[in-house]
Amino acid sequence: MTDPEIRKGLAGVVVDTTAISKVNPETNSLLYRGYPVQELAATQPFEAVAYLLWNGELPDAEQLAELRATERAHRALTDQVKATIDLVPREAHPMDEVRTAVSVIGATDAAGSALDAQASPEENLARSIRLFAALPAIVAYGQRRRRGQEPIEPRDDLDYSANFLWMTFGEVPDPVVVDAFNRSMILYAEHSFNASTFTARVITSTLSDLYSAVVGAIGALKGPLHGGANEAVLHIFDEIGDAANVKPWLDQALAEKRKIMGFGHRVYKNGDSRVPTMKSALDTLVEHYGRADVAELYDALEQEFVARKGIYPNLDYPSGPAYNLIGFDTLTFTPLFVAARVTGWTAHVIEQAAANALIRPLSLYDGPDERHVRL
Ligand code: COA
Repeated sequence: MTDPEIRKGLAGVVVDTTAISKVNPETNSLLYRGYPVQELAATQPFEAVAYLLWNGELPDAEQLAELRATERAHRALTDQVKATIDLVPREAHPMDEVRTAVSVIGATDAAGSALDAQASPEENLARSIRLFAALPAIVAYGQRRRRGQEPIEPRDDLDYSANFLWMTFGEVPDPVVVDAFNRSMILYAEHSFNASTFTARVITSTLSDLYSAVVGAIGALKGPLHGGANEAVLHIFDEIGDAANVKPWLDQALAEKRKIMGFGHRVYKNGDSRVPTMKSALDTLVEHYGRADVAELYDALEQEFVARKGIYPNLDYPSGPAYNLIGFDTLTFTPLFVAARVTGWTAHVIEQAAANALIRPLSLYDGPDERHVRL
């Protein structure tokens, strides 16, 4: 019998259908429920895109108002969640903090996670909105805690993105900054069967609950080959320091066979469809904050790396410096990704639950032949 073909990392394997998003590397496009992501980023508030991912259609004015009202009602963290976050050492990675906070929100959900095998799509949607609403406060609370600052309560008169920045910085920045941030949230919201989303679907496939699926997805996103890359881009920028240092830095990094974070993608091989939109948001921020040096370093590293390796930037490359300019700490970048991607994850949980099959692949054993304990 011939051995079955093994596709390491499930590369190229199609495991299921999805109606949530379509990644097309040939045309370099990404569609959410049929809409090009660039179009959504240019025209929609993040709440409307969340609605689209969950419900399949963009909301009308009334539906958007209803979602916004529910989201606003669930923004504030309970004392229990705050106390739990405070138990996580400040030196721990903030993803540990976010994972723990989501876990506690799940465990204290009034509906009870034990009944989840029967959770209805409506209940899962309500849970999705609760997490969507609470995550900005979790992320903001974490960054302020690490900086030794008092937490800031949410404001009911602000939409999602403006309130997120308010809770983090205690002021509402210029509208161009809010807009750049809103675009980044939309670009990060969904990307088909990436590692964290697949993790969420695997957990859902066992009939576990939505919160557990999101906790598992956060664990998958923490890794530097996935969500951690936007942080790593900033570390690289700090190492290089100045555009003039790019060539010698890259000589050494490539000689040491280092992976250059923020470049390359499992699916896109000719460029990431989200990069141009995020790059233009970064350009706006560069101009707003008067930081041409950031754009120079960005361009110099991109040009040099693409010329040498033919590998293009992914979304993390422009988003890392953009978040830095807005004022987020580097350690907060991956939690921001969680706040955005929770919309996609939970849409996939709902889709998986609606047509479930336990996800359980096979493996080819290559350990020792059968043997016996010597008595
Ligand atoms: N820096 C340097 N070399 C890279 C690279 C990078 N960022 N990305 C890919 N390569 C090289 C690999 O070393 C490999 O070279 P080899 O064939 O000589 O061994 C080749 O390109 C193929 O890479 P591989 O890692 O096998 O492809 P993949 O499809 O599994 O990788 C990533 C996709 C994302 C894991 C990979 O590009 C990477 O590690 N990127 C950096 C992390 C990152 O930015 N992640 C965010 C993704 S959105």
